[in-house]
Amino acid sequence: MRICCIGAGYVGGPTMTVIARKCPDIRVDVVDVNRERIAAWNSDSLPVFEPGLDELVKEVRGKNLFFTADVEYSVEKADIVFISVNTPTKTYGYGAGSASDLSFVESCARSIARASKDGKIVVEKSTMPVRTAEVIKTILESSGYKFHVLSNPEFLAEGTAVRDLENPDRVLIGGDDATEEGRAAIETLASIYARWVPREKIIKTNLWSSELSKLTANAFLAQRISSINAISALCEATGADVDQVAAAVGSDSRIGSKFLKSSVGYGGSCFQKDLLNLIYLCEHFNLPKVADYWRAVVDMNAFQKRRFSADIVERMFKNISGKRIAIFGFAFKENTNDTRESPAIDICRDLLSECARLAFYDPKVSDGQILSDLGLSEGDGRVEFCKSPYEAAENSHAIVLLTHWDEFRKLDYEKIRKTMQTPAWIFDGRNCLDHRLLAEIGFLVRGIGKGNLA
Ligand SMILES: NC(=O)c1ccc[n+]([C@@H]2O[C@H](COP(=O)([O-])OP(=O)(O)OC[C@H]3O[C@@H](n4cnc5c(N)ncnc54)[C@H](O)[C@@H]3O)[C@@H](O)[C@H]2O)c1
Repeated sequence: MRICCIGAGYVGGPTMTVIARKCPDIRVDVVDVNRERIAAWNSDSLPVFEPGLDELVKEVRGKNLFFTADVEYSVEKADIVFISVNTPTKTYGYGAGSASDLSFVESCARSIARASKDGKIVVEKSTMPVRTAEVIKTILESSGYKFHVLSNPEFLAEGTAVRDLENPDRVLIGGDDATEEGRAAIETLASIYARWVPREKIIKTNLWSSELSKLTANAFLAQRISSINAISALCEATGADVDQVAAAVGSDSRIGSKFLKSSVGYGGSCFQKDLLNLIYLCEHFNLPKVADYWRAVVDMNAFQKRRFSADIVERMFKNISGKRIAIFGFAFKENTNDTRESPAIDICRDLLSECARLAFYDPKVSDGQILSDLGLSEGDGRVEFCKSPYEAAENSHAIVLLTHWDEFRKLDYEKIRKTMQTPAWIFDGRNCLDHRLLAEIGFLVRGIGKGNLA
């Protein structure tokens, strides 16, 4: 059997590496129109940072895992084609700002139709709006061959992708479960996962349930973050501590303790765009009240970011003009180099608009990526890139912690404090530092949702 995956991104690369590793008899080709990305996958410096990924790629690359830019050849040879391309929010025309831009998906479907010399199983791995499978099938079958389109959304979380792929909570496969052929196609895909995923974790549904489940799962996850963030604002106003509230609330087994960590807000390429897409679908199907309900989750996230940057300005005597501020972390979460929709982008833009000078340190994000995310050019005197958090903090008036990298918890803050301007502030946007200890050292500390010390 041969598999081809179109899209060598944060999902396609790790997912196919794990499939290749678990199924040595299957040849897996990962293809992409971005030749630089393909070259990076074939090098020692992979385009995606994920704990454990380098080692896995080295084990299978060149054996049964291949990265190539020859899309049509790999598609032609494949029995199963995964579509794992980006589905960003549309920025133009009808549905701009909320609908999904399906141009990349459509272009994949056209490439598959062009390259195929027989029918295949085509798998939606990308997150798609409900009923996209219908569009894909129509384009594919214009080739004259018979295709089976399956929905197999990916639930991995960046930062723990390898672990999630090797031991998923569930694998979801949606297909045409009303026909024998459709059920056989579902089973072909299920039998690949069954090599390492227990059968009871492989959920089979119809196509539309599968497509909608992925959007719903991300909406629920984002909603939990916005819910605890809403409570964090109330904690600050009342003297409660959001971490204590979260622990007390989360100990109810009906609620559960995961994803109740208050922060500067959610980020990443998925939550925002999938929520916007869900809102768009609700509006499209004339359900404005449902759309409003989910829009509140998006609004709360924007409010939380804005509230955090406003608090920094307010605390630092309403003036950060010309002040050096150390930015600890820029990735949208720890253990990834991904900055898409990172809360750091909006917060740093706010600080720059107040004329602050920013000194960045992130262990995995490149200087060029930060410049590009902030719309700045190289040599801009308002920003500086540092090799260590110590260098970033030196001479700064404040440290603003935006990513929960483990190393930030282990720094020598006593030493850092001595190199900073006074009063020295720490704004802990992830509530991951020991605030009491920092206050003892002499910092003015602000967390999120804390009966705050400063
Ligand atoms: N990143 C995540 O954590 C995550 C998790 C679950 C699901 N998803 C979903 O998976 C999909 C992919 O996400 P990602 O983060 O991997 O995106 P990505 O932007 O990292 O990668 C997508 C890749 O597809 C390539 N591509 C686009 N059009 C192409 C075409 N016609 N032919 C060949 N290559 C093409 C791009 O060059 C890019 O390298 C999205 O729908 C996303 O919502 C992402």
